[in-house]
Amino acid sequence: MDTTSAASALTAPEAITRRRATRKFDASRPLPDELLKRILSLATHAPSGFNLQPWRFLVVRSAASRRSLRACAYNQPKVEEAPVVVVVLGYHTPYQSHLDEIVAQSVALGAYSEEVGKAVRASAYQAQEYVTDRKHWATRSTMLAAATLMIAAESLGVSSAPMEGFEEQKVKAAFGVPDDHSVCCLIALGYSTETPKFPGRLGLSEVCYEDHFGRPWTLGEA
Ligand SMILES: Cc1cc2nc3c(=O)[nH]c(=O)nc-3n(C[C@H](O)[C@H](O)[C@H](O)COP(=O)(O)O)c2cc1C
Repeated sequence: MDTTSAASALTAPEAITRRRATRKFDASRPLPDELLKRILSLATHAPSGFNLQPWRFLVVRSAASRRSLRACAYNQPKVEEAPVVVVVLGYHTPYQSHLDEIVAQSVALGAYSEEVGKAVRASAYQAQEYVTDRKHWATRSTMLAAATLMIAAESLGVSSAPMEGFEEQKVKAAFGVPDDHSVCCLIALGYSTETPKFPGRLGLSEVCYEDHFGRPWTLGEA
């Protein structure tokens, strides 16, 4: 399939249901740059608190860097086999460095007026000053970008593998990640050598409550 054109992309339901956590990547098959950029760009469309976009993508492509990253990730082979591994970072304080730029862009695009922009800026700054756990705050939106990235990849014919099996301090030291960023997950990207089976999911009756915590779901399964 032509994996760069929107016409051949999978629909969202198709991409969501077909995506699997890839176990083995074809180490001989590179990921085209244009496809990688498209996937990263789609990931940036994820929502975030006050549109502060705390995600940062440290894109690891060279063989030497993937080898170093594997050593920080409990020696998981896919970290070295996949042509690209994205170290998904959560930036703790974008309200201090990027709020003006973000509001100005929204005003320029007509998303809201300059007057509303001033109010948004003031309320975002004030609300952010009250946040006590900045790592938790950044992780919330960053993981939405991580999920968006994987669905985007799948829709364009690219396999992915999310990973929490890594030592954060080792990754930070090896790749120069500063203290005001945390490592939320790794996502390997490339082409799977197999078609993993769907491992199943809990039903809606297990994961949904109705109107009150613990109250059984009555709409049944989809
Ligand atoms: C946050 C997160 C961390 C994960 N960490 C790892 C990991 O370190 N190594 C691994 O092989 N799989 C990892 N997985 C993959 C899961 O095992 C997999 O998503 C789950 O079994 C469901 O399979 P599916 O994604 O194919 O539906 C992780 C998944 C998530 C969402």
